Amino acid sequence: MELHVLAVGDVVGDEGVECLSRRLRALKREQDIHFTVVNGENSSGVGILPRQADQIFDAGADVITLGNHTWNRLQIARYLDDNSYILRPANYASAVPGRGWGVFDGPRGLRIGVMNLIGRCELDSNADNPFTVARRILGEMEADVVLVDFHAEATSEKGALAYHLDGKVQALWGTHTHVPTADGQVLPGGLGFITDLGMVGPSRSILGMRVDQAINRFLGGLPSRFETGEGPCKLNAVRFTIDTAKKRCTAVERVDLLEER
Ligand SMILES: [Fe+2]
Repeated sequence: MELHVLAVGDVVGDEGVECLSRRLRALKREQDIHFTVVNGENSSGVGILPRQADQIFDAGADVITLGNHTWNRLQIARYLDDNSYILRPANYASAVPGRGWGVFDGPRGLRIGVMNLIGRCELDSNADNPFTVARRILGEMEADVVLVDFHAEATSEKGALAYHLDGKVQALWGTHTHVPTADGQVLPGGLGFITDLGMVGPSRSILGMRVDQAINRFLGGLPSRFETGEGPCKLNAVRFTIDTAKKRCTAVERVDLLEER
């Protein structure tokens, strides 16, 4: 079958969560989406609370992935143990709650594997090597289609992991920078790749946060607790079309919307 996967960029703050609640179900219908993965690690600004995870699932996410802010709200730790549909990076070096990958029920009995990894360049130097961890997990995972959210800063690390997993994984997207990239492509072995999905949250912002606070930081001002920015919300996502018989991605398309206000 032709499987349509929607990967949604980092949801920022309650504004982002509310935008997702308003828009995601209609978007899934319009785009004929079968399976949706949402990165939720910024839904409480930094980190995610159980109520925000519940809201993201209610909005229509099948799986939530996380990243470097997973432990900023420790209230989520037990939720990660209790709910197998939310993933934290699989390559954390130490014993931490939750799980980094899972296999989920898709349409027509399809087994959809999802893996969450974190990058080490300029992000989490304490994490295990995402390249070797990914290969190890693929050896254990029994799935028909495999999707990877690589939460990483460096464009080089994201591209290199995509090529490293080409032929073994059907879609790999980057998250974390909150800036959508225009390099969606299908690699020679059939892996659909994009360097970054973007974000869901206030459009007049720096990465979803208040512009004046970001400028103040760059001017050397005293640090302050970042608050979410202003303006109508945008929703950045990418739709991957996967030929499940051939185990190849056939199209990578941006799906972006900006709400009017
Ligand atoms: Fe992040």
